[in-house]
Amino acid sequence: TGPIFRLENGIQMPGLGFGTFANEGSKGETHKAVVVALNAGYRHLDCAWFYKNEGEVGTGMREFLDANPSVKRSDIFLTTKVWNHLHEPADVEWSIKDSLRQLQTPYVDAFLVHWPIAAEKNADNTVKIGADGKYVINKDLTDNPEPTWRAMEKVYADGLAKSIGVSNWTEKGLKSLLSYAKVKPALNQIEIHPFLPQYELVSYCQSQGIAPVAYSPLGSQDQVPGTGEKVSTNKELNAIAEKKNATLAQVLIAWGLKRGYAVLPKSSNPARIVSNAKLITLTDEEFEAVNKVADKRHSRFVNMKDTFGYNVWPEEA
Ligand code: A2P
Repeated sequence: TGPIFRLENGIQMPGLGFGTFANEGSKGETHKAVVVALNAGYRHLDCAWFYKNEGEVGTGMREFLDANPSVKRSDIFLTTKVWNHLHEPADVEWSIKDSLRQLQTPYVDAFLVHWPIAAEKNADNTVKIGADGKYVINKDLTDNPEPTWRAMEKVYADGLAKSIGVSNWTEKGLKSLLSYAKVKPALNQIEIHPFLPQYELVSYCQSQGIAPVAYSPLGSQDQVPGTGEKVSTNKELNAIAEKKNATLAQVLIAWGLKRGYAVLPKSSNPARIVSNAKLITLTDEEFEAVNKVADKRHSRFVNMKDTFGYNVWPEEA
């Protein structure tokens, strides 16, 4: 279902993807959600080593493929990511192999550097947390991720990932990465919704042949600090959806696809997983009406500054 985006290396990426980030402790939820999503027609699954549920994605995908022999693994675009404390080259390789084992597949379609931050690890391979309760930053690899990117390139050359890319990177970080990359990042997965439209970063990525992919395209369920506003209760956005006889989620998904990037709506509710996959298209007027709400906004809901003890977006204070 929906548009397919062609990455610079020729790999085809379905525009509608399913986000699998789930609360820890809700065992079995991801497995069920993945089966529902694949049955609903999603052919793009977004995963990460950090989500600690890749085993469930793997069993869900396996269950679906076994029950639907006409669908092949190669019909699904599967993404995973390497977490911050695994940026040393040997760890990058270990990370993707661990993800592949859990996902029960010999390759992923995209392997991303989850954050532009490298952290130290403990001897038992867990993240090193400092006395302040925050990640202990590996300054060298954060300031110069070239060795990490070389390891990503090796994973690509070895065929463990059909494409490699990044997540949460800024234009500045991408420019630096492009200066030494032998294999260019094929994608940059970032938070995008009407309260964080990212017009400049999206255009920059598109101008460089780096496909933007939107996480939290529905704008989370959180409030904007200070104003208490929520995307989900925004009057103008809801009026657009109501007039169209669609859900707000469907409008937001359509807005992202019309802007030319893939979207990763996430839900653990079967009815919402299914309805989000019923794609609609926006007229130019409807598209502009969403743009009008988005204009000049910049409210980020996903910001790990407090956890990392490091600000990826210093310009945002
Ligand atoms: P739920 O799992 O209960 O459906 P994020 O923006 O961080 O990806 O989070 C998406 C949020 O939007 C989730 O909390 C999800 O909750 C909710 N959601 C997903 N689809 C819909 C929908 N169609 N209508 C309302 N809320 C939705």
